[in-house]
Amino acid sequence: MRVLSGIQPTGNLHLGNYLGAIRNWVWMQDDMDSDSQCFFFLADMHSITVHEGREARIRNVRDMAAALVAAGIDPDRSVLFNQARVPAHAELCWLLNGTARIGWLNRMTQFKDKVGKDREGASIGLFVYPVLQAADILLYNATHVPVGEDQKQHLELARDIATKFNTDFDVDLFTMPAPIIPKESARIMSLRDGSAKMSKSDPSDLSRINLTDDDDAIMQKVKKAKTDPEPLPETAEGLAGRPEANNLVGIFATLTGRTPDAVCADFAGKGFGAFKPALGDVLVETLRPIRERFLALRTDDAALDAILNKGAARAAAAAEPTLRAAYDAMGLMR
Ligand code: TYM
Repeated sequence: MRVLSGIQPTGNLHLGNYLGAIRNWVWMQDDMDSDSQCFFFLADMHSITVHEGREARIRNVRDMAAALVAAGIDPDRSVLFNQARVPAHAELCWLLNGTARIGWLNRMTQFKDKVGKDREGASIGLFVYPVLQAADILLYNATHVPVGEDQKQHLELARDIATKFNTDFDVDLFTMPAPIIPKESARIMSLRDGSAKMSKSDPSDLSRINLTDDDDAIMQKVKKAKTDPEPLPETAEGLAGRPEANNLVGIFATLTGRTPDAVCADFAGKGFGAFKPALGDVLVETLRPIRERFLALRTDDAALDAILNKGAARAAAAAEPTLRAAYDAMGLMR
């Protein structure tokens, strides 16, 4: 088993990232046997699709590295690195640009969502973003890729690229990666709008819980979360058509390891005035230890850089045979 996943180091790690992906990364790491390996990385080469100054980018990479370690990624057991330190990602992306089709990329919903009406003004990087993501995955022959629901289409594209490359060059080089998407928390929604996903790019900080928010901020955000005036239903079925209520019950269920039905049964007939403080308490207790570890780790830049350097050396060594084989399959002499 080869587990691999990445996260863009832009802004803070938020509850959506944590419940949709990172918690799963930690579980998979902790369940690994000795034949398996986990690769987790900061997608800083992807993050160039959002403009940022030099200092902010350097800080963001260290912040995200600290956040992942604080959330439970162990850099001794897992290979933790940032893409920019492993040039094989950019190299394989270029090779796969010969295989990926414009029509395939035109169908990517995340690209369409991000560019909105200004397609002509979007960067080329944003358009080929999913090819770099395919390179990230195929470089390590990843078998399992733990991600949130929004990455499913990118995973399908990686499989299409792998199949076409293997066929075009008559090789059995790339492994087909399978997405691992959690059942309950694959799509955590904004606290302000139950139809939009929780995201770093939402201009309203009230829309998300950041892993760096302190206890008061978490409680305030939960209390201000949009809801409806109806009481909680007896079963989760009664949450249909109530996206905000559904999201909050889903978060509560995920955090406490129960089903949405069980949570509804507990709070049936009660209003959000009773439910929100209970949800706030669970969030505060879950996030506090992560935040405290994060703040401690964040005081030592050199230690974080050392973790990323060591991870990059291990990643580069693991990537090299696949990269070499890809050049060779194409008849490119290095
Ligand atoms: P990114 O940085 O947007 O998000 C990191 C992970 O968090 C998940 N996620 C969510 N899950 C549930 N609810 C939400 N509201 C939510 N928001 C984010 C994402 O699904 C993701 O798993 N393109 C990727 C990074 C990437 C990558 C890769 C992932 C680059 N190369 C290779 C896997 C394999 C991204 O931008 O994730």
